[in-house]
Amino acid sequence: MIQTQSVPSPLDRIARARADAVAELEHISDPTVLEAFRIRFLGTKGEVKALMKLLAEVPKDEKPALGQAVNALQVELTTAYEQRKSNLVGGGAKSRDRIDVTEPGRVPQVGRRHPILKTVDGLAELFGRMGFDVASGPELEDEFHNFVALNIPESHPARDPLDNFYLADDEESAAERSGAGLSLLRTQTSTVQIRVMQTQKPPIRVVIPGRVYRPDTHDDTHLSMFHQLEALVVDEGVTMVDLKSTVLQFVHAYFGQETQVRFRPSFFPFTEPSAECDVWFPGKQQWIELGGCGMVHPNVLRTCGIDPTVYSGWAFGFGVERIAMRKFGISNIRQFIENDVRFLRQF
Ligand code: DAH
Repeated sequence: MIQTQSVPSPLDRIARARADAVAELEHISDPTVLEAFRIRFLGTKGEVKALMKLLAEVPKDEKPALGQAVNALQVELTTAYEQRKSNLVGGGAKSRDRIDVTEPGRVPQVGRRHPILKTVDGLAELFGRMGFDVASGPELEDEFHNFVALNIPESHPARDPLDNFYLADDEESAAERSGAGLSLLRTQTSTVQIRVMQTQKPPIRVVIPGRVYRPDTHDDTHLSMFHQLEALVVDEGVTMVDLKSTVLQFVHAYFGQETQVRFRPSFFPFTEPSAECDVWFPGKQQWIELGGCGMVHPNVLRTCGIDPTVYSGWAFGFGVERIAMRKFGISNIRQFIENDVRFLRQF
C-alpha cells in the first residue's frame, strides 16, 4: 500500500508521460526544440522505450494491459510529433506563398525611347501626313556629298579641318580612292539631299532625320553630335511661298497655333535665296533658331542631273534638339546626353 502510494504504478507513469508530452508539444514552434522533444519521448533512450522496459518487471497478468497502454502511447505521440513537424515545415511554406492582395503591386521598370528619338518619330509622322517620305543616308560621308555637290567650294571656311571631323589623313580613305575626296563625319543632313536627287526623279518630297557631327564646344544650345531634320521638295513650279507655308504649317501643327515664327535673310551656298527660321521661345523669352532654309541652288540641281530650267526646289535643315527643347521647355541641350533617368523618365 505504502509502495503504491510513493512509487507511481506503470500505468500512472504512462498517463503522466502522455500528459507532459501533449502539453509540451502544443507550445513547440521551433524545429530544434521539436527534435529535443522527439529524443526525450520517442528516442532509443526516451521515455516510451523506458516504459517498455518496465514490461519485464511487472507480473505476468499485468503485462497485456501495460503492453497495450505503452503501444498506444507510442502511436499517439509519434502521430502528434509527425503532425507538429509537418505543420512547422508546411507553415513556413504557407507563409512564403501567402498573397496579400491589398499590397500595392511591384511596378516593373520599363525602358523607353529617348526624347530625341520620340521627337524624330513625331516629326516623321507629322510630315508623313503632309505627304513627305522619309529618307536616310550614311553618317560617315565624303567631301563630295558634304561639300562639293552642295556648291561649297574648296576655299570655303566650312571645309576647315577645325570645323570638321575628317578621318585621319595619313590613311588613304576609300572615298578618296573613289574620287569623292576625304572621308568625314557628316556636318549636315543636306548630304542626303544629294543622295536622294541622284537616285530619284522629281516630284521629290522627303524629310531626312539624322545625326550630324561638329567639333563644337558644348554649352546650353550646342553639342558636338546632334540631330537635324532635313526637308527637300523638288518639282515644277515650286516657289519660296511653298517653303514658307510648309514651315508655318509645321510649326503651328507641332507647337500650337499661337507659336510665333520669323524668317531672316541668310546665306547658304546650296540655296538661293536663303533664310534662317526662328521660333519664339517663351521659356527663355527669346527667338531660337530652328535652322536654315531656302530655294535649292541651280548648281545643286544640275550636279544631281536635274534640269534647273524645268524644276525648282526648296529645302530646310532644322535642329531636332532645338525643336525638342522648344516643345518640352528644356533650356539646357546637354540634358539629352547626360542619361539622367530622372530626366529621361519624363518623356
Ligand atoms: N545644312 C545647313 C546647316 O547645317 C542647314 C540648311 C540650310 C539646310 C539651308 C538646308 C537649307 O536644307 O536649305 O547649317
